[in-house]
Amino acid sequence: MTVQLGIIGGGGIAMLHAKAAAKVGIRLAGVCDVHEERAQALAAKYPGAQATTSLDELLAMPELGAVVVATPNVFHKDMAIAALRAGKDVLLEKPMAMNVAQCDEIIQTMRLTGRLVQLGFVCRCAPASQAARDLVAAGSLGRIYHARATLCRRRGIPGLGKWFTTKSQSGGGVLMDLGVHLIDLVLHITGFPKATRAGAVCTSTFGSPIDRYTYTEMWSDPPNRHGVFDVEDAAMAFIRFDTGLTMELNVTWAANVPEGVQSDGIVLLGEQGGCYFDLWRNELIITTEHDGELVDERPPLPQCDPWEAAWQRQYELFSHALTHRSVPHASAQNGRSVQALIDVLYRSAEQGHELEIA
Ligand SMILES: NC(=O)c1ccc[n+]([C@@H]2O[C@H](COP(=O)([O-])OP(=O)(O)OC[C@H]3O[C@@H](n4cnc5c(N)ncnc54)[C@H](O)[C@@H]3O)[C@@H](O)[C@H]2O)c1
Repeated sequence: MTVQLGIIGGGGIAMLHAKAAAKVGIRLAGVCDVHEERAQALAAKYPGAQATTSLDELLAMPELGAVVVATPNVFHKDMAIAALRAGKDVLLEKPMAMNVAQCDEIIQTMRLTGRLVQLGFVCRCAPASQAARDLVAAGSLGRIYHARATLCRRRGIPGLGKWFTTKSQSGGGVLMDLGVHLIDLVLHITGFPKATRAGAVCTSTFGSPIDRYTYTEMWSDPPNRHGVFDVEDAAMAFIRFDTGLTMELNVTWAANVPEGVQSDGIVLLGEQGGCYFDLWRNELIITTEHDGELVDERPPLPQCDPWEAAWQRQYELFSHALTHRSVPHASAQNGRSVQALIDVLYRSAEQGHELEIA
């Protein structure tokens, strides 16, 4: 039977959800946004979809089997719980919630209601990520002992002066926004080892004063130069895991780094080989030894737009979980593990030293 979907929050990312859902045969039946015109604009693109400003009205639609929560982070917990209680399965955008205690509330409700929660960890679904994961799972690189994950924007602060840069609504800055994707990706590929120690440095350089920031382009609305900016725009972290794996994380929304010198992507170092991959350039390079020589190989990846392919894959996996009533590939438990680590990283940044994780 065709799944009927509702979307809560008709902003930037909602469009991608609607498009990807349609590609896998999920029908958009309703959109809720506090801004009526946004709900209407999105619903108008999908015949028969209803627009509303009332969450209760959306969740009362009996035909809806699942909802996407794509609102500012501060609403994730309450909206996911309301949807689960209304008997809907949930595709919950990242980060899962504002902190790990909120994640636990969502998981508790998920268990009580027997509904499903999938996290919006779309980076896992990029062709390069999947190929890297297959490589590691096949043991081709041997034990992975180090991961380096980098995503450095020169000027890419989302929604400057609005909810993304307001801690009470976002829970944090670039660590909550981009950091969660990269941490999830490395954990997903390495089998979710347990973190034992972690330390981070978070800096906020470009928001104070907001006027000084050189706005170039960003997919969100134009900046609010009179708004709030009380989150970090750069974060560096070092994490140790119980398997011996270590991870370096380097994420920026803004940085004075010369163009072209920053190599974004993930490096995985294994005892028998290593690899580098870039999700959105659709690139994977594998380093191994052959007859005493170091060899770099570039295995072909599917020729596609990796962003579109990742979104479609995310929805294929969601659809599979809904149909088979199976634990989604990006589970609530995964979302919780990532959030627990993010919470420790923020505490470590505040205290100025590495922290032990019980
Ligand atoms: N997976 C990804 O790669 C990715 C990318 C961007 C954003 N996101 C996540 O998606 C979520 C939304 O981000 P966005 O970029 O679309 O933000 P956005 O600001 O563009 O959109 C959010 C929408 O939610 C609406 N909204 C706010 N409060 C609401 C409420 N109480 N009820 C209903 N609607 C409400 C707003 O009016 C707005 O239209 C965030 O959690 C963000 O972290 C994920």
